[in-house]
This record gives sequence, structure tokens and C-alpha cells, in this order.
Amino acid sequence: MEKIENYVKFLTHTIDDFRNFFKPDKQKELTTTILLIERTLEIIGKALEINGISIHVENRATKEIFTYTNEIKQVILNILKNAEDVLKERKVANPCITITTKEDKDAQVIEIEDNGGGISAYILPHIFEPYFSTKDEKNGSGLGLYMSKTIIEEHCNGKISAVNGDFGAKFIIELKEI
Ligand SMILES: Nc1ncnc2c1ncn2[C@@H]1O[C@H](COP(=O)(O)OP(=O)(O)OP(=O)(O)O)[C@@H](O)[C@H]1O
Ligand SMILES: [Mg+2]
Repeated sequence: MEKIENYVKFLTHTIDDFRNFFKPDKQKELTTTILLIERTLEIIGKALEINGISIHVENRATKEIFTYTNEIKQVILNILKNAEDVLKERKVANPCITITTKEDKDAQVIEIEDNGGGISAYILPHIFEPYFSTKDEKNGSGLGLYMSKTIIEEHCNGKISAVNGDFGAKFIIELKEI
């Protein structure tokens, strides 16, 4: 009974998260990168955990940013979902996602890296294009990263890029403080 009750509470909370999530939010808010990550993990963290994916978060940033919070959460969610897809599809042993926040001279940076084996060199230049997907029709529209790039670079005055790290793909989001 107790477990069921906890789970219902969790689901209720998830519904609230989603309700707020899809509200059009055109108002910028003061926030931090770590807070945006934590809020996103409240939505998708449990699903990742159920799939056996471990998540490591390392916070090395200190400054606040003034931005469209729900839009950035949407981007983080897209990237995490892609990582989940690849880790499941390739049946990676000890699947894990590492999320790091850091800052450089004029940007707050979020890095999201998985150990799913990365993106082949001939695919990498195309992943931010609309309708580009290596998944079949029902599993991918190819719009996730295109939308993410539009949000970060056209709405939020930032930059998003992808590289291959040692174990898998690494997505880098750079945000200005204002
Ligand atoms: N972490 C990752 N590791 C390996 N390949 C990736 C990763 N993230 C994205 N990709 C590649 O980039 C492509 C485009 O990603 P994108 O999120 O835009 O579309 P999608 O996931 O295929 O579909 P959807 O629009 O439903 O998200 C993917 O189909 C996949 O080939
Ligand atoms: Mg996707």
C-alpha cells in the first residue's frame, strides 16, 4: 500500500510538471543551469532509472542566467531522450549519462554525455537538420535536435553543438547570462 501511495504521489507530481511544462511561457526567468537540470530530471529521471540508466550530475557553475526556462528544459529533455534511445537500442552495458555544468568567460555551459558509442562521422554533420533521423518512423520524427537548435540559438541567444567523447555523444549547450 505504501509503495502504491508513493507511486501515485510521484505520478501526480509528474502530471503537474507536465501541465506547467506545456504552458506557453514567454516570460524570461532568473535561474541556474543546475536548477534546470534538476527540474528536467524530475520529469524524465524516473524513466531513465527504470531502464537501468544511471545519471551523474556534476555542478561546477555558480552564476545565474535569465532565460526561457521551459524551453531550455525541453532541450535537455530531448537530449536525455536521445541518450536513452541509443543506450537501449545498442544494449549498452552499464548505461550511464553524465551531466556537467561549468562556466567560461561569458557563458554558462551544460554538457550531457552518454556512453552509447557516439555518432558516426557521416551522420554527425546532419543531426540538427529537420527530419533527419536514423530511427524508424514510429520512433523518431527527426525534429528533436532541430527544435533544440532553434530554441537555443534563435530564442535564447546561445549555442548548441555535438561532439563524440570517449564513450559516446556529448551535447554542449552554451548560454549567455542575460
Ligand atoms: N546521444 C546520441 N547518440 C547517438 N546518436 C544520436 C544521439 N543523439 C542523437 N543522435 C542521432 O541524431 C539523430 C537526430 O536526433 P533527433 O532527436 O533530432 O531525432 P530523433 O531522435 O531521431 O527523432 P525525434 O524527433 O522523435 O527526437 C538521431 O536519429 C540519431 O541518429
Ligand atoms: Mg530525439
